[in-house]
Amino acid sequence: MSIAHRTWQEWEDFFMQRSRRSLPALEQDRDYSALPDSLARSLAIFQLGESGGGTIVAQSFCNSLPGLNNHFGTSMAYFVEEEHRHANILAICVRLLGGTLIRSNWTAHLFVFARRLIGLRLKVVVLLAAEVVGLCYYHLLAVRLPPSRLRDQLLEIVEDERAHLYFHCDFLRSQTRTRWRKRVFVMVWRTVMASAALVVAIDHRHAIRDLDIGFRPVLARWRSYSRLAEMLVVSDSARDCEHAREIQANSSV
Ligand SMILES: [Fe+2]
Ligand SMILES: [Fe+2]
Repeated sequence: MSIAHRTWQEWEDFFMQRSRRSLPALEQDRDYSALPDSLARSLAIFQLGESGGGTIVAQSFCNSLPGLNNHFGTSMAYFVEEEHRHANILAICVRLLGGTLIRSNWTAHLFVFARRLIGLRLKVVVLLAAEVVGLCYYHLLAVRLPPSRLRDQLLEIVEDERAHLYFHCDFLRSQTRTRWRKRVFVMVWRTVMASAALVVAIDHRHAIRDLDIGFRPVLARWRSYSRLAEMLVVSDSARDCEHAREIQANSSV
């Protein structure tokens, strides 16, 4: 995806095109029994987290924030639909791995609690942290899996989450035009991102250990994408954004 910021009309068109994708038929293409049980549990937790998001669509259509229009609301509706598609794909992945879906989890509760507590801008900050955490984690899981449909599906979700990151950053950029707003954003963003990284690292520690991912690569990747998101929101320099994108793209972890 280009570093260039998009208009809401362009985002609507972008999401609409992708909404035409059908759900993959993930029949058992290989034997996954050698993979640890913690992988299925980890994906089940993310599956739960991908399932919510109803109220944010209503708020996206009806608010008094500057720089928004109906195309933004429609884009947000497509975005939530796309997250539900991820939930369906992850549900198939969990079943392929012989795991069971869950209805409740403490980290999912925390994210839902944070999203309900606050207004649209802070909701999107929480969502952005979830995108950073999710896209890095799915990628690190996928590259440790053998070539398979499971791996391909996780990598497809990674690409979707990357687009979501740019979408949320475009929104937050439109809401942080002044210097003090940028400062407030950076302070809130770093706090929310660090908290999200901590709880997810704790909750998914068994999969991180069993798949030999290591906490250092996870944290390094989160830090790299977190920095990219921050630059996309607050930087006035296209060169800074491009530099952050290159660091993230060249990250070897
Ligand atoms: Fe997702
Ligand atoms: Fe996402």
